Amino acid sequence: MNKLSKMDFSKCIMAADQASSLPPSCYTSAAAIEEEITHIFRQSWIGVGRADVVASPGDYITLDVAEQQIILLRDKEGQLCAYANVCRHRGARLVDGQGECKGLRCPFHSWFYGLDGKLISAPHMEKAQGFDKADNGLIAYRAEERLGFVFVNLNPEAPSIDEYLGEFADIHAPWPIETLVSVRRLETVVDCNWKMFLEVFNEYYHLPFVHPDTVDSIYCAPDAVDQVTGAFTTQFGATQGTGALLENTQNSALPHMPNLSNQTANGARYTWVFPNMTFAANCDALWCYEAYPMGANKCKVIQTSCFPPETIALPEFKEKSAVYLDRLDAALAEDVPALVNQQRGMNCPDARAGRFQPDLEPNVAIFANWYAQQLG
Ligand code: FES
Ligand SMILES: [Fe+2]
Repeated sequence: MNKLSKMDFSKCIMAADQASSLPPSCYTSAAAIEEEITHIFRQSWIGVGRADVVASPGDYITLDVAEQQIILLRDKEGQLCAYANVCRHRGARLVDGQGECKGLRCPFHSWFYGLDGKLISAPHMEKAQGFDKADNGLIAYRAEERLGFVFVNLNPEAPSIDEYLGEFADIHAPWPIETLVSVRRLETVVDCNWKMFLEVFNEYYHLPFVHPDTVDSIYCAPDAVDQVTGAFTTQFGATQGTGALLENTQNSALPHMPNLSNQTANGARYTWVFPNMTFAANCDALWCYEAYPMGANKCKVIQTSCFPPETIALPEFKEKSAVYLDRLDAALAEDVPALVNQQRGMNCPDARAGRFQPDLEPNVAIFANWYAQQLG
């Protein structure tokens, strides 16, 4: 029995045209965060962004995922590794930020770990009876790469990544997602619950009201949401020109990704990989967002913008891609106040779960359903 068990999730486990949203306390209470950490963030495969953030052997980055501190690094063989960012001696945090290293040295008493996580040296520890370096390697987690995204899992017993993702690779096969290159990675903090951030990115309903003068005019009515197996939801919609530029900047359009069909070249696919990563595959660029809880009322958001290597090699890339990034920034600058305002409303003691618009918010309904099943 979990602490939210008194909460009624029954209306979340329904089709979008019948379902209600998650109860407001899921967005505002410390108990919800605690349950999410136990039943979601420590069980699920967590999308932690693009694999090229650690492109070369020795590259590392620290990730703070729902109170769990992780080091993601690439070892000498080019394999992704994920370790707990904690020393096996007396628990110091090993490293911050990102960079390149030959191994990880604890700043406290200088224990030194190799890229493979093995403890290599521990000054003066030969006097400790029965101490064996082989028993004191870093705590390792499972880390996998799919389509150029990184997924980590803290539960050694969890199903495989491919079982978790189901039809994820098949449905995204038209786009060369694996080969895309990240050109900008930004971290920001937003004063809203982590789920809210992902929800707004995955629904069309707010476009005419929150983005009337920017991105609204580029989106047509979306197709029906795809029925998929796997812990994700996805919806394709046609766009006027590229969805990655505003209507009045379409003359800065960069080439399409290679080998797109007519349909995929004229729209965008919005995908939310549960729990915390989402992306839009446009005809020419891909944006990815990760959202991580920082308590109930705040989240850390990481935005990554990616383009095909052929496009990045073009002489006009710098100038034209700046217009793409401006469009992304403009949309985010409009979403953030809407989210902060939604979070304020959710904290009203009389806030209630509400109904969805089934054509424009099916991704949100499908997430609520998945979430309810994890916590129910
Ligand atoms: S805590 Fe890391 S070496 Fe002592
Ligand atoms: Fe938006």
